[in-house]
Formats: sequence, structure tokens, C-alpha cells
Amino acid sequence: MAFADIPGPQRNPSDPKPRRILSGMRPTGRLHLGNYYGALYNWLKLQDNFRCYYFVADWHAITTEYEAPQDISGYIPEMLVDWLSVGLDPEKSTLFVQSAIPEHCELYLIFGMFTPVPWLERNPTYKDQMEQLAHKDLATYGFLGYPVLQAADILMYKADGVPVGVDQVPHVEMTREIARRFNHLYKPIFPEPEALLTEIPKLTGTDGRKMSKSYDNCIYLSDSPEVMAQKVRQMTTDTQRPYRRDPGEPDRCLAFPFHRLNLPKERLAEITTECRAANLGCVDCKKLLAESLLNNMLPIQERRRYFEAHPDEVRDILHQGNKRAREQARKTMSEVRDAIGFNLEFQLWV
Ligand code: TRP
Repeated sequence: MAFADIPGPQRNPSDPKPRRILSGMRPTGRLHLGNYYGALYNWLKLQDNFRCYYFVADWHAITTEYEAPQDISGYIPEMLVDWLSVGLDPEKSTLFVQSAIPEHCELYLIFGMFTPVPWLERNPTYKDQMEQLAHKDLATYGFLGYPVLQAADILMYKADGVPVGVDQVPHVEMTREIARRFNHLYKPIFPEPEALLTEIPKLTGTDGRKMSKSYDNCIYLSDSPEVMAQKVRQMTTDTQRPYRRDPGEPDRCLAFPFHRLNLPKERLAEITTECRAANLGCVDCKKLLAESLLNNMLPIQERRRYFEAHPDEVRDILHQGNKRAREQARKTMSEVRDAIGFNLEFQLWV
């Protein structure tokens, strides 16, 4: 697939310490193509060159779902199967669940002691979410503190790079400020991570709005090939091309960004010319799109079948990942307690 390389920390051959990457997702349902191209595709590319930690942010999900937190954990195995299907490899990446690592909570508490409330109140993502989720009462301490927990997630593993969408940049920026403040107040133990942004523009859903579960316009990674093909057929194309004989404009076509992700450059140029010359109609063009998309999804679907048939293996992968993550978390917390003078000689921790 044709993507520009991700900017960000590159592995420096003379650097003995491998760079670290961390990212997380809230388990709120099945993943769709927007999640795949917008996030997972980056995660995949990074796992070959960096030490990667990817986790399910189930505690973060409670900030907005506190009325029914019992629904959250049901999504965890589903999310893991989505991750493994797209090719996240537990041999290369540490895959884990936030709530299995209680150290996140401890670090969150310590960061909370010195994070100024105005930093949190100023956060644009906070304000934006409050407006978008106006039907929920989010005037809670937990919701305000969301970025502090996120900083704990990131700094626990001393991540250098955080692959996220643009909406998360303020959180990574705040993580840097929290790291700087900790390093200055106590002891310099944390790196200042940078956000690694995706180059992919936001994908629209089948109806032309942003692809989002709440709009019911998603193509899910777990959709069958038939369902995927049908959803592609329903995609809005160039609305200013009412007739087949009219010339089309790929820049106005809502299906075209998907072509961009699924076709090689030369083929893309051909389609563009044919569309503008009215030689290629939208129905045929979307047939092509369905073909190339389904073709790219084949290995993903094959892995999904495997993992769905082997839930024990998925559970083992998670146990192993949790174990590895916890080792690192324990190490960091020991350094943190040292830095703040809380490693007691007579160890109170059992
Ligand atoms: N806030 C992120 C989101 O909603 C999820 C998340 C939680 C995260 N902790 C993180 C992302 C740490 C990157 C790093 O998408």
C-alpha cells in the first residue's frame, strides 16, 4: 500500500537503547477501516523497528462509560482479535490491558499531585469532548484527569514516540509537560515523548460523514467480504455527477480516498483520467474498489478466522503481554519511588 513513511524517532544504529513506542485504544467496540488506516497501520509499521507497547485503555473507557463499566471488559477480547488479525505480532509488540497493570494507577496518583488544574481545564480535547458528549455528565474529577492517566500510561514505559491521531496531540503535549515537571522537581528519569501523526486524512464513512460507529456508516474489519462489497456499493461518489456520461472529479468523490489506500500509484492515475473523461462510471469504479479492498483484506480475514477459532491462544498472548508490561512497570515505579523518596528501607510492599 502506498504511504509516505512515518516521521518521528528513527532507529539510530549507534544508539544501543532501542527507541520505544506506546499507544492505546479505548475498548468501545469493533474496529473499522478508519481505525485501521488511521492508527493500526502505523502501529504495524513501527513494530518492525522499535520496541512497541500497545494496550487496551479500559480504565480510560470508564471516564465516559461510568454508568455501565461492566460492558467495557466484554470488548477487550474482540479488540485483541482485531489487533492480531491486522498483523500485530506478540513476538514483536507487547500487547496488554491497562487494568492488569495497577502501577498505572499509582503513577497517575503521583502525577496528579503536581499537575496544575488549569493545564487540564485548558485542554482543547477536553472542551471538545464535553461539547460532543453533552448528553453525559462529564463534570467529573476522572474526566478532567484523563490526560494525567494517559501521561502515566506513556511515561511508565518511557516511550519516545506515541502514534496517535491529531485529536490526541494535546494529551501528548501535556505528557511532555508532566515529564518535564517530574524531572525538574525530583530526578530526571523520563524522556519527553513526541506524537507520531498519521499521514492518512480522516476517512469518510459510506454516507460521506466521518467514519464513526455512532453514525452507523462504518466498514468493520470483521465484516464478511460480502458485507464489505455491499457497503462499497453504497458509498457516496461525486454528487455533482448525476449521469454516467458526465465527467467526474475524483477530488469530490468520497470513495476515492479508499482507492488511494488500496491501489498502486499508476493505477490510481489511470482511474483519475478515466473518471474525468467519463470513460469510467461510478458503479464500475466501485467494483474495482471492492476488488482491491477485499484483496488487501484477505490475509486479515484469514488471521481472524484463526484467532476466533483459538480463544485460548488469544488469552495466553494477553497474559504474556501483561506479564512483560508489568515487569517494566515495576521497574519504573521503583525508580519513581526512589526519586520521590518513597522507597522505604523496611519495604512495605509485599
Ligand atoms: N486517549 C486515547 C484515545 O482516546 C487512548 C489512550 C489512552 C492512549 N492512553 C493512551 C493513546 C496512551 C496513546 C497513549 O484514543
